[in-house]
Formats: sequence, C-alpha cells, structure tokens
Amino acid sequence: MSEKHGSQAPMPSLVALARFLPKLWHQPPLALVEAREKYGDIIRLGFHPRLMLHLVSHPDYIGQVLQGHNKNYVKKSLYHNHLFRGVLGQGLLTSEGDLWLRQRRMIQPSFHHERLVPLVPVMVSETEKMLAHWDEIYQRGESLDVYEEMVDLTRRINGRVLFGDDVVGDVVDHGRRVFSAGARFLLLTGNKIPSRHQRNMAQAEKQVDDAIWGVIKDRVAHPNDNDDVLNMLLAARDRKTGEAMPLAQMRDELATLIFAGYETTEKTLAWSWYLLSENPSGAGRLHQELAQTLAGRAPTFEDLPNLSYAYRVAQESLRLFPPAWVQGRQAVEDDEIGGYRIPAGSFVIMNQFGVHRHPDFWEHPNEFDPDRFLPARSADRPRFAYNPFGGGPRQCIGNELALMETQIVLSMVAQRYAPRILPNFPVELEPEVTLKPRYGLRVMLEKTLRPALASPVPDQILPPTL
Ligand code: HEM
Repeated sequence: MSEKHGSQAPMPSLVALARFLPKLWHQPPLALVEAREKYGDIIRLGFHPRLMLHLVSHPDYIGQVLQGHNKNYVKKSLYHNHLFRGVLGQGLLTSEGDLWLRQRRMIQPSFHHERLVPLVPVMVSETEKMLAHWDEIYQRGESLDVYEEMVDLTRRINGRVLFGDDVVGDVVDHGRRVFSAGARFLLLTGNKIPSRHQRNMAQAEKQVDDAIWGVIKDRVAHPNDNDDVLNMLLAARDRKTGEAMPLAQMRDELATLIFAGYETTEKTLAWSWYLLSENPSGAGRLHQELAQTLAGRAPTFEDLPNLSYAYRVAQESLRLFPPAWVQGRQAVEDDEIGGYRIPAGSFVIMNQFGVHRHPDFWEHPNEFDPDRFLPARSADRPRFAYNPFGGGPRQCIGNELALMETQIVLSMVAQRYAPRILPNFPVELEPEVTLKPRYGLRVMLEKTLRPALASPVPDQILPPTL
C-alpha cells in the first residue's frame, strides 16, 4: 500500500476553488477535465464526510465504485434522485437493493438481444417519416435544427418500443421543455424553493403521471398483442414468488424507460451529426460503408455487423460527448480509493467526461477518430476508460438498443443527406441532466454524394454484451 494509505484525498486550495467555481458553473464538463489535469485523478471537495465529494477520473477508481466494491456505493441520497423522484418514482434508475434486483430481473428480458430484431422496422419506418419531412425542407432550401429533429425521432421510436405508439409523446415533450426552461434554477435549488419553475414542474409531472396511468389502465382494460415493453411488463412474473409486477411499480418503470430511453439516444445522434459535419473524411468513410453494404436500401438486423464504421461513429460520439457526463454514488462504509480514504457517507462523482478524454488512455483525446474502437486499438485499454453506459450491476439496460438505434438512424439519414452545421453557428455544451448542445444544432442539408467504392470496408466489430 502506498504511503498515502488511509489519508484524505488532496483538495485544491480555497483560492484555487474560488477561481474554479465560475468555470464549473458555466462549463461543468470542461471544468472537470481541467480539474483532473490540474489536481489529479482523485480530488476531494469538502471537510465533513456528509458534505464531502470525491471527483474520480481514473478507470480503476470508477471500476471499483461501479463493479469491484459496488455494494458499498449507493444512489439513494443522490441529488438527482431527489430531484426526479416525483417523475421516476422507484423505477430501475432510482431504486436500490432487493426492489431494484427484483425489478431488473423482470425487466431485463424486454431488452435481450433477440427482442431487438422486430424493432429494426420500427426504427426504419420512423426515420423514413422524418426523411420525408427533410425532403420538403431541402426542397425549400431551409436550414433545420438537427438536435430537435433527433429529439422528435427518438421520442417517437421510444414510444413505439414501449407502448406500440408515441402515445405519451406530447406530455413528455412538454415536461422536458418545462424542465429545460428552469433547469439551472431547479438543479441548483434541488426543486425545493417555491417558485414559478417549481409550480410548472409539479404541473408537468402530474400530466406525465396521468398520461402514463392512462396508457396502463387502457391496456389492462383492452389487452392487445402488441410486441411492446408494456405487454412484456404485464406478462412478467417475479422469479421467486410468481407474482405480477404491481401496477404502481409498472408506472415508475415506464416513466424511467421513457426518460432514460430517449434523453440519451437523441444526444448520441445529435452529437454524431455534429462530429460528422466537422470531419468530412469521417463522413466520407461512412458514406462509403453505406454504399458498399446497403447501396441505397434501408438496413436490416442482419446488416448491422457490416455497418461497423457507423457503429464506431456512435461509440466515438459517446466518448467525446457522453450524455451521462458524470455518475454519482454515496459510500455506505469507509473505503479506500487509490490509497485515499473515502469516509462512509461521502459522495463519489465519476468524471466520465474527463476519463473519456484522459490522455493516459486515449491518443489525441480531443480528436474524432472512430477507428480507435477497432479491436486491435482497444485491446490494451482498461475496461472503465470507456463507460458511457455505466458498468457493473447497474449498467444501462438499454445500451444495445441505443447503439442499434444510432446505427440505423445514421445509416438511413447519411445515405440521403450530409447535415452541415451552419458556418459560425455557436456550438456549446449545456449540461442539463444529460449533455446537450446549448443552442441546438442548426444545419443545412446537403445531398450525399455517391462515393467511389474502391477502398475496403474495415473489419466487423461485435456489439457489446451486458
Ligand atoms: C445512448 C443512450 C444511452 C446512454 C448514454 C445511457 C446511459 C446510462 C447510464 C450511464 C446508466 C447508469 C447510471 C448509473 O449507474 O448511475 C444508465 C442506466 C439505465 N438506462 Fe441508459 N442510457 C442510454 C439509453 C438507454 C435506453 C434506450 C434505455 C431504455 C429504453 C435506458 C434505460 C436505462 C435504465 C432503466 C437504467 C437503470 C439501470 C439499472 O440501474 O438497473 N437507457 N443508462
């Protein structure tokens, strides 16, 4: 054990902190990269355990929290958990212990690999509808906000995956806009201070709640044989007791799957378009792969392993702009990370954005280079250098679905259009709960040029397993 064994992790001086706080307020992800560069892979903020945060930016430390010692790190006191309890209740993302385990076991089968096959035509048809709308915009020579387009598209797809249709889309969309309008205030105050934003949030939460209950009650009263998650949850039985999922629990799970499902995938797609627009050679590689593999048609499930560059673009987008840019936990018992003491009750914030750009694990970390995910270049990388979907038992349940969706939408759109960010359009990070482009992403649509089919398409890669 190192000589620092059991000592407190280093803390920046109060003067340094005072300088750092404005950056943390304006550009938190970039501030977290800077914090790691200046102060190292583990930093302490605060003196009393209950008010103490540790920012960890090393794969081994993240692995210890999410996997190695995962039982010692819980979510229940986390700030976000309180803030969103009203909407998410005790769903998979926010619950803990036996309840979480029972629910995870009941819900997991809805996201198994073979369950994804029938979802491909759903994703294809929704993307086709969006492209028909884009054709009109292109004809009129207008620009569009590709971020907003991805929000709409992924919401519709998620609605169909969960309920067979985008039945709660409008209220969910409204709720998100209400949150966005007051996000900074709500995040800072933990939604605890009476205000216009708090009232609007309460109203929006009620609407979402009513809408989800409406769908559940309607399905119970009028069962159908839709191949959707709602029917799978209604049919699921607890492996030990054989009991069905209580409807109130189902409501919480559906609310969780609604928000966790598209808040994140929309950003992966939006940032992919930004990266492709900024990197024409990468866009060219993608167009070439698509011409070779699909030659103008829509992708099928069987095509996915051959759309490996599209897959790596999704992975690279998730590296540079991880939607869940930090993840948090609270220590139950004393622990030690990197030789430093983590007192019981203190918080650990995993700096996912910073680790994804850590120069010890990534060559030219700020550059767009999807081929860094080729097996030959990934073999020596520590597992937790890349964790856009978290890890350990609480790893994202929808990771395969999200990557497939990104691959399909990229493949369909890029065969027809190359969205180009408007010159001088301000692209900035806005870290709400997930990392969004602050002003959206306004693009002009250019028709994709038919690429020459000379170079070979790179090796296939396999999708990740849970
Ligand atoms: C690119 C898209 C996505 C990203 C980046 C993402 C990211 C994450 C991350 C980082 C976690 C772990 C949080 C933690 O441990 O604190 C998580 C958990 C979760 N995600 Fe995702 N997610 C994505 C898509 C989805 C989709 C499509 C669904 C479902 C439709 C989904 C449902 C969930 C659920 C239910 C959990 C909680 C799992 C548990 O604790 O057992 N996510 N996600």
